[in-house]
Amino acid sequence: MKYITFKNGDQMPIIGLGTWKSKPGEVYDAVLWALEAGYRHIDCAAVYNNEKEVGNAFEKAFTSGLVKREEIFITSKLWNSSHRFEDVVPALNKTLKDLKLDYLDLYLIHWPIAFKAGVGFAQTREEFYTYKDVPLAQTWAGMEEAHAQGLTRHIGMSNFNRAKLEEIFQTAEIKPEMNQIELHPYLPQKKLVEFCKSHGMLVTAYSPLGSGDRATSIKKDDEPSLLENDTIKAIAEKHGCSPAQVLISFAVHRDIAVIPKSTNKDRIKENLKAEDIELDTDDLKKLLDIGTSYRFIDGSFFTGSKSPYNLSDLWEK
Ligand code: A2P
Repeated sequence: MKYITFKNGDQMPIIGLGTWKSKPGEVYDAVLWALEAGYRHIDCAAVYNNEKEVGNAFEKAFTSGLVKREEIFITSKLWNSSHRFEDVVPALNKTLKDLKLDYLDLYLIHWPIAFKAGVGFAQTREEFYTYKDVPLAQTWAGMEEAHAQGLTRHIGMSNFNRAKLEEIFQTAEIKPEMNQIELHPYLPQKKLVEFCKSHGMLVTAYSPLGSGDRATSIKKDDEPSLLENDTIKAIAEKHGCSPAQVLISFAVHRDIAVIPKSTNKDRIKENLKAEDIELDTDDLKKLLDIGTSYRFIDGSFFTGSKSPYNLSDLWEK
């Protein structure tokens, strides 16, 4: 198994199972199939609305002796409505209760976006018209408190650009350890990855396969396909593997953790086997310079005429 390593020596298996969009009724089996197939890293979040079911799968895996808690790396994320200092530890405790765990390996601030307390994943844009008066430094202090209480071994963030990371660095007592960002050949994130690594941070790639199963409300009709891309298909053919495996291997070769989502038993197994694919420098160059540029998760659901957030503030210029 391949890993990436935190500064204190803790290891995170480089391929994990993503659970965003995994439906209740499906995610229980998906997590158990993944653990049976050899996955030792599961990526979760409160807003995925399935942590209770993922927790049932963990409970089953532990009581049946399939794995021990200390053998798996579990990540979850703080939702936007719990950014105030006093809301962070309770939000993490709720996640721990749902996941049936007494600690996480990694807890991330899900977005650099603060909602009103009590707003879940808003159904209407109006519900997002929230306030921006929770400074990120306050949320980070809450993350440090969660770490100090032993509720999570490591802390980091997701969807943070360089400017927002720099904002955190100014007051952080514990330096952020992870940035989980959208990353694939259409969005290789060269500069941001370099910046994170230069500050001792690790990186995780989300939506490595292009998240084709997300809701149509956050999907454009004319999106380019990663799995159907000719360059990716040609590299897959060359290695006798699938396009999905090439995409997963692309992150692995850059020492970036990667969390493909699947609820299909065969694809779950296939995705973990991507660890064994050896891409050469020519393949990697082709993937890095693929020519199509696209962000699947553009964050526009957080913006709008009345929202305090805008896209240029969210992403690198
Ligand atoms: P399924 O869950 O039915 O396997 P992402 O990780 O970028 O969010 O992408 C998830 C999407 O990719 C889901 O629609 C998932 O479908 C699909 N998927 C996962 N693994 C593979 C694979 N090996 N080949 C093709 N599609 C896959």
